[in-house]
Amino acid sequence: MSGICIAIDGPAAAGKSTVAKIVANRLGYIYLDTGAMYRTLTYAALKAGIELSNETQLKMLMPKINITFSPDEKNGGQRVFLNGEDVSDAIRSESVTSNVSEVAMVLAVREEMKARQLAFAENGGVVMDGRDIGTNVLPNAELKIFLLASVDERAIRRFNENKAKGYKHVPLDVLKQEIEARDHLDYTREHAPLKKAEDAIELDTTSLSIEDVSTRIFTLAQAKIND
Ligand code: CDP
Ligand code: CDP
Repeated sequence: MSGICIAIDGPAAAGKSTVAKIVANRLGYIYLDTGAMYRTLTYAALKAGIELSNETQLKMLMPKINITFSPDEKNGGQRVFLNGEDVSDAIRSESVTSNVSEVAMVLAVREEMKARQLAFAENGGVVMDGRDIGTNVLPNAELKIFLLASVDERAIRRFNENKAKGYKHVPLDVLKQEIEARDHLDYTREHAPLKKAEDAIELDTTSLSIEDVSTRIFTLAQAKIND
C-alpha cells in the first residue's frame, strides 16, 4: 500500500492511540501502537522474572518474543498478541504500566523496537503513535503531530477509561502520580526521549473532544496527501 507516514507523539493519555486509530481507519492506513510493543516486552520480562534494566538479559529475551496485532471487531481497535497469546488486557495492568518506562530506557530495547516498527512503515500508508516516532523512528514522516493535555485531564481520561473497560479501580491521585512519574522518565531518558520534533504540529487537547482532534489531524493529513 502506498501513502504518507503520520507520526503522533506525546505523553501518557494525551489521546494518541484513540485518535491515531480513527485517522488510520478514515485513511485506510495501517495503525501501529508502538507503546503496546514496549508494554508487551515488559509483560514478557516480568513473566520471565528478569531484571528489567539488565540489557544482557533483555537482549536474550527479545528474539523469543513475537509481537503481532489483529483488528478487534468489537471496538474497532486492535488486539495485541505475544507469541500467539492475547495480552491486550494484561499489558494495561498496573505492574506493566509502572515498569514499562524502565524497560524502554534500555538502548538495545529501543534499537530492536525501532527495527520492528520500521518494517511496518516500509511501504508508507501508516499512522504510528508513541514517544519518539517523529524524532527517531520516522524522522522523515510527512506529517508529525505532538499531542498534549494537562496532567489533571490525562489522569481523568485514564480513570474514566479504566472504569469503562472494567479494569482494576485505581484512585485518581494514584493515576496522576503514575502518569507524572512515567512522563518524567520518558522526557529525561538518554536514548530517544519524548520530545516534540522541530517540524511537528503541537495540539493541546485538554479541552478538545476525540472528534475535534481526529478531524484536525485527518484534515492535515489530506492536505499533505494532496500536496
Ligand atoms: O498509553 P500510554 O500513553 O499510557 O502509554 P503507551 O503509549 O502504551 O507507552 C507505554 C510506555 O512505553 C511509555 O511510557 C514509554 O516509556 C514507552 N514508549 C516509548 O518509550 N517509545 C514509544 N515510541 C512508545 C512507548
Ligand atoms: O494513547 P494515549 O495514552 O495518548 O491516550 P489514549 O489511550 O488514546 O486516550 C486515553 C483516554 O482518553 C481514552 O479513554 C480516550 O477515549 C480519552 N480521550 C478523551 O477523552 N479525549 C480526547 N481528546 C482524547 C482521548
